[in-house]
Amino acid sequence: MKNIIAIDGPAASGKGTLSRNLAKELNFAHMDTGALYRAVAFEVLKQGKNPANEGDALYGCKALKGNLHNASPLSNPDLRTEEIGDAASKVASIQSVRDFLTDMQRDFANSPPFGFNGAILDGRDIGTIICPNAPLKLYITAKCEIRANRRMKELQSKGLSVTYEAVLEDMRARDARDSNRKVAPLKPAADCVIIDSSNLSEAKMLETALTYAKKAFG
Ligand code: C5P
Repeated sequence: MKNIIAIDGPAASGKGTLSRNLAKELNFAHMDTGALYRAVAFEVLKQGKNPANEGDALYGCKALKGNLHNASPLSNPDLRTEEIGDAASKVASIQSVRDFLTDMQRDFANSPPFGFNGAILDGRDIGTIICPNAPLKLYITAKCEIRANRRMKELQSKGLSVTYEAVLEDMRARDARDSNRKVAPLKPAADCVIIDSSNLSEAKMLETALTYAKKAFG
């Protein structure tokens, strides 16, 4: 069985930080799959196209693929804005966009880069669709108000002026779009472990996840 950890959850649930910390601790390679959808959305908006239109979104997929030979598109800090997050959730509702990105994610999970002991992928449908056979599936969640507060602080630390109310409203809209869409909706896999990060520190999250990793991988 492959050493794969699937981590899903809504925006600002803490899944990204946990994934990075777990990856470091276990020497697993990490893929932030949200960055793929953000990068597609970025290409679409760059051309003044509509992220909710299938043809425009597929244009974004092709533009991203053309750029992936220089690994930088996924670490571009311009991907981390709320505007791109919102557009990402629009392209992510389109089945053909998801199909386009599926192989890339499965290849990474099954053949992580040389030197790593396994792979961690975090996103919305990793445990349900991309890697349904992963030996460990975590679903990280937290109260919407707490996630909005975290996101507000993150944006403010980057010098952006945002209000809590605006961030909360965006967060609710994105949660609703991700959870209610027809294709690959955000939901916990039947056999996942659910961790509520509302009142857990980063260190406690890591400790908890490591306990489950030990059980899954020995
Ligand atoms: O995780 P992040 O906020 O960067 O993801 C941006 C958007 O991409 C999400 O709101 C979601 O709509 C979409 N996404 C997805 N499936 C994934 C990862 C992200 O639909 N595996």
